[in-house]
Amino acid sequence: MNKSIFFKLLASYIGLVIVAITIIGSMQVYLVENYLIKSKEQEMVVRGQELSNMVMPYLMSNLNPRPVILNVNRADRILGTEVWVIDRYGKVITASADHLYCEGNTLEAMDLTQLQSGKASIKSGQSEYFQEAVIRVVTPVIHDNEFIGGVILYSPVRGVNDTSKNMSKIYVGAALLGILISVFIGIIFSRQITKPIKRVCEITRNIADGKFDERVEIHSKDELGVLALSINHMSKQLSELDSMRRNFVANVSHELRSPLTSIQGYIDALLQGKGKDKQEEKNYLQIVQKETHRLSRLVNDLLEISRFDSQTALFNMDEFPLRSIIDRAMKSLRLQTAAKDLIITTNLTSDLPLCYGDEDRIEQVIYNLLDNAIRYSSDRGEILISAIPYDDDILVEITDFGQGIPSKDIPFIWDRFYRVDKARSRNEGGTGLGLAIVKEIIDLHGGKVMVESTPGEGSTFGFTLKQSGG
Ligand SMILES: Nc1ncnc2c1ncn2[C@@H]1O[C@H](COP(=O)(O)OP(=O)(O)O)[C@@H](O)[C@H]1O
Ligand SMILES: [Mg+2]
Repeated sequence: MNKSIFFKLLASYIGLVIVAITIIGSMQVYLVENYLIKSKEQEMVVRGQELSNMVMPYLMSNLNPRPVILNVNRADRILGTEVWVIDRYGKVITASADHLYCEGNTLEAMDLTQLQSGKASIKSGQSEYFQEAVIRVVTPVIHDNEFIGGVILYSPVRGVNDTSKNMSKIYVGAALLGILISVFIGIIFSRQITKPIKRVCEITRNIADGKFDERVEIHSKDELGVLALSINHMSKQLSELDSMRRNFVANVSHELRSPLTSIQGYIDALLQGKGKDKQEEKNYLQIVQKETHRLSRLVNDLLEISRFDSQTALFNMDEFPLRSIIDRAMKSLRLQTAAKDLIITTNLTSDLPLCYGDEDRIEQVIYNLLDNAIRYSSDRGEILISAIPYDDDILVEITDFGQGIPSKDIPFIWDRFYRVDKARSRNEGGTGLGLAIVKEIIDLHGGKVMVESTPGEGSTFGFTLKQSGG
């Protein structure tokens, strides 16, 4: 890929240079040729004027002006200029050339009319007589306002062409040199652009292979610099995701191991008849039962979390009254509530609007928060559940007066498997996933979770939820 970008850049760069050189070159040749022809014509007009003054006496006295022509034209002939003289009828009476078969030729009527009006005629083009391209200037000889003849100068365009040909040769040489230099500059330039692209490719390949600590070292402020920044950002994110994944697997294995070890231990003891009596065997079995419950809760929570991760969790969005799901959650937890002799007070605004969301999932949120409040309350404590309208949302808060959470732990409380007191949570049958699931569900509903807590005084957990139609 890098090779083709390199050659594409190089080719377009050199192509551009060639096109520019060609256009400028042909324009130059055209302009110079034009200029050369114009100045030659100008020169010939002056010369024709001189000659016409010189032949005037001859024409007036009907003498052949050949000697003048030959004499004066010697210098011009070296440059290839021919001079003819015509009479008042346009008939050629003499010429500078030795061959005189041009004599008797007549000028076309149109040219003659122009000459009679006293104006010189200038023409250039292919001449049949000379068999090449020539410039022809005819100057009238006027005496006493009367047209008595003319001088015709012929000069081949060849001279002009030679000059411009020489110039073109020099130009082509210069152009080739220019192209050569531009190839060198182009190679350096293209390499400079493709080198960082190549580097980016290499590094993204390494990142794909799992080397997340690789960084692209491009600090330019152009698009490549921006690309480098995004790749570095991606690499950092991937690295975080990767370590999260590793941690998660490690945590899961750890969480699974302790109940399994304990189950294994008690079953071994039972099989080896280590229980002193029926009562102790029953105790063992009760522990095994408790641990299997914990395992099954853990696996359920993990399944739920993985559904959120793989984004396969389907939400049944609808409107529902909050009151009914609070009641359901309280009912599910009434054994635990009774065991600790707790009092739960609900305080819902009487005109509380309906909520909008997945009813079962929101029930799970309330269940998890209430479960924590019960779990981390001391006996005979109190728990408050309140819900009030809050802008377009509904704010639900669950307050307990239990042990609270140290402020250093608060930022991590929503992380998977994070527990302030691991041993206590495990003992109580917690999985450390409850709050992570709460946050996941509320995030997917577009709401916010919050917590306030003072160690020794209690905690308030809250979340917002959309009002129906809000
Ligand atoms: N109401 C609360 N009072 C005190 N600590 C709490 C409360 N709710 C949660 N926590 C702390 O947050 C941790 C994570 O809670 P959670 O994710 O529900 O896991 P689990 O309850 O299974 O331990 C708990 O272990 C506990 O340390
Ligand atoms: Mg919990």
